Amino acid sequence: MPSVSRENAQEAGAGRGAEAGFVPPVYPYDKLAELAGLAQRHEGGSVDLSIGTPCDPPPARVLEALAGSGTERGYPSSIGSLEYREAALAWMSRRFGVDSAGLAVAACVGAKELVAGVPHWLRLRTPARDTVLCPLLAYPTYEMGAILARCRAVAVPTRPDGTMELSSISPEDASRALCLWVNSPGNPAGQLEDLAAVASWGRSHAVPVFSDECYVEFTWAGPARTILEHGPEGVVAVHSLSKRSNLAGLRAGFFAGDADLVGYLSRLRQHAGFMVPGPVQHAGAIALGDDSHVEHQRETYLARMRRLAEVLTASGVNAGIPAGSFYLWVAAPEGLAPPGATDEPNAGWALTRWLAVNGGALVAPGDTYGPAGAGHVRVALVQPDDRLELVARRLQATTIS
Ligand SMILES: Cc1ncc(COP(=O)(O)O)c(C=O)c1O
Repeated sequence: MPSVSRENAQEAGAGRGAEAGFVPPVYPYDKLAELAGLAQRHEGGSVDLSIGTPCDPPPARVLEALAGSGTERGYPSSIGSLEYREAALAWMSRRFGVDSAGLAVAACVGAKELVAGVPHWLRLRTPARDTVLCPLLAYPTYEMGAILARCRAVAVPTRPDGTMELSSISPEDASRALCLWVNSPGNPAGQLEDLAAVASWGRSHAVPVFSDECYVEFTWAGPARTILEHGPEGVVAVHSLSKRSNLAGLRAGFFAGDADLVGYLSRLRQHAGFMVPGPVQHAGAIALGDDSHVEHQRETYLARMRRLAEVLTASGVNAGIPAGSFYLWVAAPEGLAPPGATDEPNAGWALTRWLAVNGGALVAPGDTYGPAGAGHVRVALVQPDDRLELVARRLQATTIS
């Protein structure tokens, strides 16, 4: 299958009022308002498994550190304090055995702003290129970053397991590419990519590779991997404390790798005023220095995924544990929505409605992650056990045959 240009989506994003300029599309989760209302009607209320926002507590020491940095008065360093960057490199070296000596590293305000901004900044540097390559089934911000930079998002076809088919990228798309995004473990399908092959594709086509590794601590099928194990040349790994340490509210991440790319981006970002607040950098360094809370979180997510997979499967919705991430990526059963049987746009939405009505659970319809996800839903295990048991009880009497 050839790679697919998302220029149409770009036009949709640009909105009906082309003359008036860009109109932001509806935010994906805002489309769930009606189904959220249906789920809420259950006694005990809705159990929100749609957005991947952590619910478990961050380490107490990290929260205490927020009040003790003494950094409130002055502007923080845009690239990140020495303490923060050293903690990031020490974690990478401890976790993956990468040689931190050869790596450049800089802070970002969580991974999302970097993902959304990279196409714009790379295009400023290389105006002759206009294309962002990203997985066909993916976190939507890769495409949105391209749209915001008035670039083409070209979707790289994915195999049934969600990994990218790099051989499908046309020579023309490669020659126009500002960057290739890879996400491993991937959101929403949890796939693990062959990062050596991705780095090698980028180098041989002179396309910078950005590797979003924000779920790396939640790798189940084998060891946690970073693209930087294959050297920093032409590659940048993107990390975040949001998922690793339940600190999505602090907005702390970093990017590390190729000195030229990281150096360019961090200089540009300094001019544009991107800064992680000083107290957050200090607390983030403490979080990066501690692995025990992550081990506990891994066990929590794995147990929750096992339990909900069991509950869904008993209801006729087959669910398995992914290779990575804390999402169940679940195909809608055929019996649920034969074509034309419901008013839903696709089977993923039909299953989303079914779960809201019968389980009081709100999940993300698979087309949130591109049209290739239309037959699935994503279930985020971000609610405590007692809330999941509520869903289990509600679904007990209901089966899709
Ligand atoms: C693949 C992926 N990348 C990046 C992010 C953003 O994370 P952060 O909170 O660091 O901005 C998310 C959040 O869900 C994600 O799923």
